[in-house]
Amino acid sequence: MTIHSNIQYKCEFCGTYFVPISESPYCLKCGRVSQEVYPEFVEETLRSALFNLSRYDWGIRLLTFGKLDKIYERLVSPIKNGQRVLDIGCGTGALTFKAAQKGSIVKGIDINPQMLEIAQKKAAQAGLTQYVELVEMGVAELGSEAPANYDVVMSGLCFSELAEDELAYTLKEVKRVLKPGGLLLVADETRSGSILMTVLNWVLRLPLVIITYLITQTTTNAVKDLPDKVKRAGLSVDSILLNTMQNFIELVAKRS
Ligand SMILES: C[S@@+](CC[C@H](N)C(=O)[O-])C[C@H]1O[C@@H](n2cnc3c(N)ncnc32)[C@H](O)[C@@H]1O
Repeated sequence: MTIHSNIQYKCEFCGTYFVPISESPYCLKCGRVSQEVYPEFVEETLRSALFNLSRYDWGIRLLTFGKLDKIYERLVSPIKNGQRVLDIGCGTGALTFKAAQKGSIVKGIDINPQMLEIAQKKAAQAGLTQYVELVEMGVAELGSEAPANYDVVMSGLCFSELAEDELAYTLKEVKRVLKPGGLLLVADETRSGSILMTVLNWVLRLPLVIITYLITQTTTNAVKDLPDKVKRAGLSVDSILLNTMQNFIELVAKRS
């Protein structure tokens, strides 16, 4: 069965309409793969334009007002040629490839095989396959990584998808897998300490969250007190950059 990325299909399990992000009829809502899918043609207008990018990539760009590329460029700036890098929750590889383009050897891990499939194709298109290893693996499996194995551990927009205890475990493991002097680089949504900003963020963000959920069927929980959590894991925070709305954090921390 040929699956087209600009056609809408109906999931045979949960009935959700979805546009495939890969060549398999994988439902973005219930996560199951339909054996029989029924394409429902959508007008070849807005949708096909939107879904040339994967639905996911589009949703993320929407949530970050198109600023993500610039943020990720800045985040990878400390990475040096030849360094070993771990990208936690690499998704379709937005951050992974920026690091690989700097000549580092990047292992990208993610629990979503469809994201990894897209990332693998992008790596091949960009001629970066010898610099990038993409592995289906969750943060819960970080214990299988050798200690002091990485110069840099980085994560973009994944910590906000983790439960509190998962994040605490992840940060503990990050410290263990980093070499002494190694860096943790994080860019993610965060919650503001100010009540006024929190309310303002909710009001401004709500329409974007709804639109993004309708497109990607995913949503996030902004990370609370990330610098404190990083310190509690035993890393020292080198720098913190908050945007004007105080709802997005770029953090650099070090293992001493
Ligand atoms: C919002 S995406 C960000 C992807 C990528 N870093 C980027 O910036 O485009 C979050 C990613 O985290 C992954 N993720 C969520 N929970 C995870 C977990 N427990 N272990 C590993 N990856 C996870 C998701 O599958 C998803 O691909």
